[in-house]
Amino acid sequence: MKDKAILEYEGKKYEFPVVEGTEQELAIDIKTLRSSTGMITLDPGYKNTGSCESAITYLDGEKGILRYRGYRIEELAEKADFLEVAYLLIFGELPNKEELNQFHEDIRQESHVDEEMKKILDAFPKSAHPMGVLSSLTSALIAFNPSSVNISSEKEMYHAIIRIMAKFPVLVAWTMRKQKGLPLDYGDDSLGYVENLHKMMFKRPNKDYVKNKIVIDALDQLLILHADHEQNCSTSTVRITGSSHAGLFVSLSAGISALWGPLHGGANQAVLEMLEAIEADGGDTQKYMNKAKDKEDPFRLMGFGHRVYKNFDPRAKIIKKAADEVLGDLGIDDPILSIAKGLEKVALEDPYFVERKLYPNVDFYSGIIYRALGIPTEMFTVMFAMGRLPGWIAQWREMRLRGEPIGRPRQVYIGENERPFVPLKKR
Ligand code: SDX
Repeated sequence: MKDKAILEYEGKKYEFPVVEGTEQELAIDIKTLRSSTGMITLDPGYKNTGSCESAITYLDGEKGILRYRGYRIEELAEKADFLEVAYLLIFGELPNKEELNQFHEDIRQESHVDEEMKKILDAFPKSAHPMGVLSSLTSALIAFNPSSVNISSEKEMYHAIIRIMAKFPVLVAWTMRKQKGLPLDYGDDSLGYVENLHKMMFKRPNKDYVKNKIVIDALDQLLILHADHEQNCSTSTVRITGSSHAGLFVSLSAGISALWGPLHGGANQAVLEMLEAIEADGGDTQKYMNKAKDKEDPFRLMGFGHRVYKNFDPRAKIIKKAADEVLGDLGIDDPILSIAKGLEKVALEDPYFVERKLYPNVDFYSGIIYRALGIPTEMFTVMFAMGRLPGWIAQWREMRLRGEPIGRPRQVYIGENERPFVPLKKR
């Protein structure tokens, strides 16, 4: 046990245990703070607050390290496939061949979605943002899978996990096809998990589906890179929603809504829109750099900066390399990629960005690959949600299995003191 932390206030000393993680991170355990001092902490955005102990993902923001269950993201992105990584995140170990086959077979058995769900999808206008559609459909799934609502046993949890792993790709594909006015497609269960997702998304009604290995491999790697990221905004939303013992599907629906925000997963769409605006503006990157630095201007350089990484986001490095490879392999010369690289170069040499340790994050280059794969800009954050699905599931499962208490932060009240009611005629 590490030494204790001592808080001194008004001449009294209070001791608190110090918790050390397996990577030597230290935390002051303040579970007894309010009962012993009468005080609470105040930390808007939880920049200094740990919400839980977790064994799933490790980040080191200063060194730019990211590991899922101890495995480096660079190795997983190169050597594993998305379904393997999903199993690793959820159950804690890389699956052997029979475990992976069983996991995939269990998923295949649940890969149908009730036809009535199509009526809900039909009710949306084509102009509906895909993230709003996906969040609604994910929540609506409960009505057709009532046994996945109140789950407590690991067996019930496994069935709910298998169901959502099976049905979520269908909802992702249907969300895109709805926007494109294409008939809803179920793909082909004999295909790999990501290949079937791609087929469901892109299969044309009057053409045979032709697999492009470059495209499938790129999509698989992007999903791995987005699979988990410890206690980010949307994952914290999934955990706190699930902490009330709300079901897995509604907790995921809440997470999808949180991810939608442009400061979080919605940034990948905002990056592409920003790069397109710069291109339309004659490629004037300096103008946008100046806007990003101008405190009077709400504009931010989307895809830059991170709450944890104060170094390169390791995922951004991998995606930047993949963007060159995929566009090269597909024979695509996208001027947007050159604008992105130019913007990165200027930003990394600019004192404003250097002083604030603002580097490209996962969202800066990902949209360029999604675009090359034929995915519409408004679907970029849906693809982020597809990748993040196993991470959200893993975090929700860990929170429930550890019996974490319901999340309920305190506050510092700064409103009116007590005052007498004033009747309407006297106001
Ligand atoms: C994701 O948490 C995760 O792990 C998230 C994620 C995941 O995998 O789940 O990694 C995915 O959400 C990546 C981030 C995507 N968002 C963006 O790219 C949006 C642009 N970036 C920012 O809005 C911002 O950097 C955040 C939201 C990502 C982080 O914000 P913080 O940690 O709250 O930092 P801050 O807003 O307090 O900024 C610190 C300083 C400020 O300047 P000063 O007040 O010190 O003068 O840096 C400035 C900010 O104005 N700043 C930026 C900037 N990001 C921060 N200035 C211009 N452009 C930016 N992008």
